[in-house]
Amino acid sequence: MVVARLAARDRHAGGDGALSGIMAGRFITFEGGEGAGKSTQIRRLAARLRHEGHVVVTTREPGGTPAAEAIREILLGGRAKPLGAEAEALLFAAARTDHVDRLIRPALANGDWVLSDRFTDSTHAYQGATGGVDEELLDALDRLAVGRTRPNLTFILDLPAAIGRARVDARLAGTGQAPDRFEAEDIALHERRRAAYLAIAGREPERCVVIDAEQAEGDVAGDVWRAVLSRLLHRTA
Ligand code: TYD
Repeated sequence: MVVARLAARDRHAGGDGALSGIMAGRFITFEGGEGAGKSTQIRRLAARLRHEGHVVVTTREPGGTPAAEAIREILLGGRAKPLGAEAEALLFAAARTDHVDRLIRPALANGDWVLSDRFTDSTHAYQGATGGVDEELLDALDRLAVGRTRPNLTFILDLPAAIGRARVDARLAGTGQAPDRFEAEDIALHERRRAAYLAIAGREPERCVVIDAEQAEGDVAGDVWRAVLSRLLHRTA
């Protein structure tokens, strides 16, 4: 049954050779620790692409569809934490399946650009590297949840965990909100996630670009735009 489902997903995505024809859009994901500035950079890149005439869909994980947003509430509220990291990984994957099926894949088929705040690499960094969930199991969940709908480009916004934490604390103090289930975790865990992201980038340099997120917002945006130009639009600045 799982095999049949995977085969169906591959057909959806165009199968061998047809991928670029059917997935006419471009899929970009933003990854990194807490306080790295992903959402700001997504807003800036979306504005720039729209200015160039592209149709852009911005989204986030966990979330992006009503069902996935409902799962998000369970996960970030900490209600799944007692079930353990494996169960949390299953929930992230369930949310992702709906997100890919109902939002990402149709938008790409339509020729749109999709910018997602987090995607599969988050599961590998959080539930894998710091949750102890087996990498092979996570790879199997990726095949099930996303099939061939893989990002064309992934930005890893890299900064020391302590600096990310200080940014999150300042944001929370401004809004009076409490930290969520993952924000509340310790700096050492966040540093291990940072290392996990850098390892992913090292393994997949054709997909991933590491950006120094300690820089000023405008400089980060400049690095992001130059990478989009050279890697996806085949132009120089
Ligand atoms: P969010 O408020 O979107 O945080 P951020 O601004 O840091 O992106 O919360 C998403 C949280 O969920 C974040 O702490 C990372 C975590 N997460 C996982 O643990 N695994 C995953 O697969 C995903 C997508 C997110």
